[in-house]
Amino acid sequence: MLDKTKYGWWKSAVFYQIYPKSFQDSDGDGLGDIPGIISRLDYLEKLGVDGIWLSPVLDSPQVDNGYDISDYRAIWPPYGAMRDMERLISEAKKRGISIIMDLVLNHTSDRHPWFREALKGRDNPYHDYYVWREGEPGTPPNDMRACFGGSAWEYVPELGQYYFHQYAVQQPDLNWDNPRVRRELYDMIRFWVNKGVEGFRLDVIDSIAKEPDKKITARGPKLHEYVRELSANAFIEPGIVTVGEAWSADTGEAKKWSAPDGSELSMVFQFEHICLDQSFEKWDAVPLPLPKLKRCFERWQRELHGEGWNSLFLENHDLPRVVSRWGDDTAFRVESAKCLAAMLYGMEGTPYIYQGEEIGMTNVPLGLSDYEDVETVNMIAERRARGYPDGEILASARARSRDNARTPMQWDASENAGFTTGRPWFAVNENYRGINVRSALADPDSVFYFYQKLIALRKKHPVFRDGEFTLLEPEDEALFVYTRCTDAERLLVICNMSGDARKYTVPAGFENAEILIGNYKGVSDVLRPWEARMMYEGGTR
Ligand code: GLC
Repeated sequence: MLDKTKYGWWKSAVFYQIYPKSFQDSDGDGLGDIPGIISRLDYLEKLGVDGIWLSPVLDSPQVDNGYDISDYRAIWPPYGAMRDMERLISEAKKRGISIIMDLVLNHTSDRHPWFREALKGRDNPYHDYYVWREGEPGTPPNDMRACFGGSAWEYVPELGQYYFHQYAVQQPDLNWDNPRVRRELYDMIRFWVNKGVEGFRLDVIDSIAKEPDKKITARGPKLHEYVRELSANAFIEPGIVTVGEAWSADTGEAKKWSAPDGSELSMVFQFEHICLDQSFEKWDAVPLPLPKLKRCFERWQRELHGEGWNSLFLENHDLPRVVSRWGDDTAFRVESAKCLAAMLYGMEGTPYIYQGEEIGMTNVPLGLSDYEDVETVNMIAERRARGYPDGEILASARARSRDNARTPMQWDASENAGFTTGRPWFAVNENYRGINVRSALADPDSVFYFYQKLIALRKKHPVFRDGEFTLLEPEDEALFVYTRCTDAERLLVICNMSGDARKYTVPAGFENAEILIGNYKGVSDVLRPWEARMMYEGGTR
């Protein structure tokens, strides 16, 4: 078992993300909840994960499914009470699983008492907790746009001022230049550390040091100063693991964020690989250029080696299902889900599994009026207003909407996939009768057991943590091949990322290597569709 009091334990760990609303309902109200999560801890222990990144469970009007917090110290009642959260923390700990909470520090809900106070007047002590500018109705301070559409400025007639919001209108940005705001947030974090939370995922953390007059959102000049102060005041124990969401991070920035002296965070989520298959906006999908993906991973692997730390992920609650996106969710669903996992899990970094990824859950074919997600709903309205045909809008939503990842977890083949005995808050993907946890657990060749084995292998062989990365066949349009090497061990990862058979000869030095894991029976020099293999030499067997 990992010693979680030590700095760096997370370099050998694998985390699992839970989106609470869609994971497991325990009381029939159609919404997932904390007792539901507790009832599935044995399943997560069986998978072998070391921690749960729990998307927000705090009190919220749910405009953005909990990323709009109205009370940082209370659980949203449909998810349970504080004692349920305490029980989750202790039950998880018994199984060697840490709870990593989601911290939304860039903004609050407009229903948060701070914002309600702020609205009362310019002299109210909470007014300066948010970002305000003078302005006339209809003439915002500048033309900045919010990430979920529309202007980033909202006018409050009673104050004759605009407030700034990078996300929905109901998510006003906090003013990090105010030291009182920063102190309140540090106290709140300590409250959760004292409850036994062992780590944090920091929502859009690169946006906190915004300077809207200069149109700066991410990477403001004071960003790293604020993060270092946050880390020194709130993440005191060396074992606390932190992962920042930083869409703006390039490798240089990520090295600062994850500097080995621990002055900032343990690691960041960066999205360079995730943005390779779009043309203009995320809604405009283009096929994934594999050589670019390989070069991108290579750069991140090489540049952070010894100087920082990567996170490894292909899915989360904001992204479509990867087996539909980069794999083949029809003829080769199982093979391609495993191949994508092998491609990623041979690399250096800390992997994150998003709920359902470990059984190969797919995108969901919804209709335009079925979407729930505020970003998708706003996109549909905006594109309709701009004259896009409905068919095109639907194609974008089906390929890209965050709702693809938010359908209820598919536990078994019973009604509503075993997620709830009531009416689910959101559509269950109809393919649940074939794709579900129960059938995955009953099939030794399932995607689940492939993940379980990958996790065990990462813990067994130090080369997964320490090995130096070398990309082979960089220009090949179908094969993703790389090695990881230390003085004592060598790992070769071979992935045929296509539905066609491909001839491949194992490079010199690996002819007699042990096959650690593969997704087909038997071996030949022809790689079958989506075939993946990891080969190993040296060290402990
Ligand atoms: C992050 C979250 C996303 C949320 C946004 C605003 O990107 O992952 O779900 O909508 O921040 O908080």
